[in-house]
Amino acid sequence: MIARINGLNLAYTDQGQGQPVVFLHAFPQSRAMWAPQAEALSKTHRVVTLDFRGFGESDAPLWHYTLEQFADDVKGLLDHLSIQQAVLVGLSMGGYTLFAFYRKYADRVKGLVLADTRAQPDTEEGRAGRFTMAQTAYAKGASAIADIMLPKLLSPVALQTKPDLVGQVREAIEQTQISGIAGALMAMAERPDSVPLLTQIACPTLVITGELDGPTPPADGKLMAERIPGARLEIIPQAGHLSNLEQPEAFNGALQSFLKTIQ
Ligand code: MLT
Repeated sequence: MIARINGLNLAYTDQGQGQPVVFLHAFPQSRAMWAPQAEALSKTHRVVTLDFRGFGESDAPLWHYTLEQFADDVKGLLDHLSIQQAVLVGLSMGGYTLFAFYRKYADRVKGLVLADTRAQPDTEEGRAGRFTMAQTAYAKGASAIADIMLPKLLSPVALQTKPDLVGQVREAIEQTQISGIAGALMAMAERPDSVPLLTQIACPTLVITGELDGPTPPADGKLMAERIPGARLEIIPQAGHLSNLEQPEAFNGALQSFLKTIQ
């Protein structure tokens, strides 16, 4: 499905009935990464997945990429679908977007799931790495970005033993437009420190981290869970950064038991 939001075509999928759960994908992926969650949860919930601007089947303009803009797009989609409140699930870049969303639209949040993400901003070195990666994207194309990102997104075990998963993650990266890759890299580089926000989060929150997550290791998840009042923490064994894809059953189990606590 396509919705016209903030002047762009945004692609989304809306399936199932019940309490709405909205999923926000990682960089540089698309809503397709939520297939195992959509299949399991749409039996009991209304599951909405969307492609951020710049990704998947959404428009990829040459500009305007900020995490606040991503949050405005999510809010626009909620309005379009007449969803007043939802549980929002964000993985990595999706989680960064949730902090931006919560700052502006806390009244639309029924619960938060912060998966394989972190509240800290980029270091100077991290920011410089984003600019280098954006230049690589322009110079060498999306397949060079796949070469860089695959060892970050998947654990060494998954890289060696799950060729279908590796192929799926690579394909999603290679299908991403360069304007989307570069735009999202700039957006992530410029994101503010969300650590001060953590103690202000007043909704039910689940933090999930893959045990083998390199980019956002369990220590980042623990920091969020310690500071967000009442938050639960789930460390998923044998999972790297895309923990929902590496260990979908454990991820879904954590999500389902959290959703049961939310009326
Ligand atoms: C992601 O998975 O969204 C990225 O690894 C996030 C990042 O580069 O910080």
